[in-house]
Amino acid sequence: MRAEACYARRMPAVVPEVHKKQALRHTLLVRVTHWLTVAAFAALLVTGLEIVVSHPRFYWGETGNVNMKPLFTIPIPASRDTVPTGYGYTMPDENGWSRYLHFQAAWVLVLTALVYGIWGVASGHFRRNLVPERRDWNWRAYRGRMAQYLRRAKPDAGEASSYNVLQRTAYVAVIFVLFPLVIWTGLALSPGFNSAFPWFVDVLGGRQSARTLHFFVTWRVVLFLVWQGAMGVVSGFRSRMRAMLTGRAAESRAGNQEER
Ligand code: HEM
Repeated sequence: MRAEACYARRMPAVVPEVHKKQALRHTLLVRVTHWLTVAAFAALLVTGLEIVVSHPRFYWGETGNVNMKPLFTIPIPASRDTVPTGYGYTMPDENGWSRYLHFQAAWVLVLTALVYGIWGVASGHFRRNLVPERRDWNWRAYRGRMAQYLRRAKPDAGEASSYNVLQRTAYVAVIFVLFPLVIWTGLALSPGFNSAFPWFVDVLGGRQSARTLHFFVTWRVVLFLVWQGAMGVVSGFRSRMRAMLTGRAAESRAGNQEER
């Protein structure tokens, strides 16, 4: 038996004493694409908020402007005095650089997602490590792992080398549903892109609908991050972060249990 094993090849649940060093938990490609995604997403979030501040009213359909009744309004002052918000003052207008950086960060995200997505399918990473295992396709598995989180119980030995059913479900949802949606609704807002592919925005119900959906899907991704952070804290934040940075997961003397 080898002294280390990647989670892509599944480690045995109990590692012999001589092999209790550090198992490779994340491949280099996963780590590089993950941290590129984090940087791009942080830039998108900050600049996206700046863009929203220039017009914090949301509409549905093809058109939307200050003369129309909005679907909803975010109760903040705008950075443009032409936008009625009910406040008697405006915020500083940072729309110019925000839009440039937003589009640049979006392309970093799209290209990173493409590399990760193609590799994930080709290498079998998604199928082996992220899609919940067949035996966990039932409520008992979800309830059981959730109860373990709520009790703040230490992760099972197998989790040193693999994701549990809740993590897998959250990752699959973010990779195959939320991310494609955030990219799709974002591209639908690009005038260049949707003049080339008008159906891209038409199926969403128009540009204003695309903008509103883009806003909600983004917040759904933020909720995922809060959830990921909470799971990380319960499972051992330091060791999980170290593994995502160095690739290595430390195992304690008493087996595969993670250090807290
Ligand atoms: C500061 C923000 C973030 C931190 C600190 C963070 C941290 C982590 C850590 C520690 C893991 C490994 C979990 C484990 O081994 O149990 C992980 C995995 C993952 N994270 Fe994040 N993350 C962040 C932002 C994001 C963002 C913005 C996304 C995308 C929306 C994302 C998507 C994922 C995915 C898909 C995985 C599984 C990767 C794989 O194994 O293929 N994360 N993250």
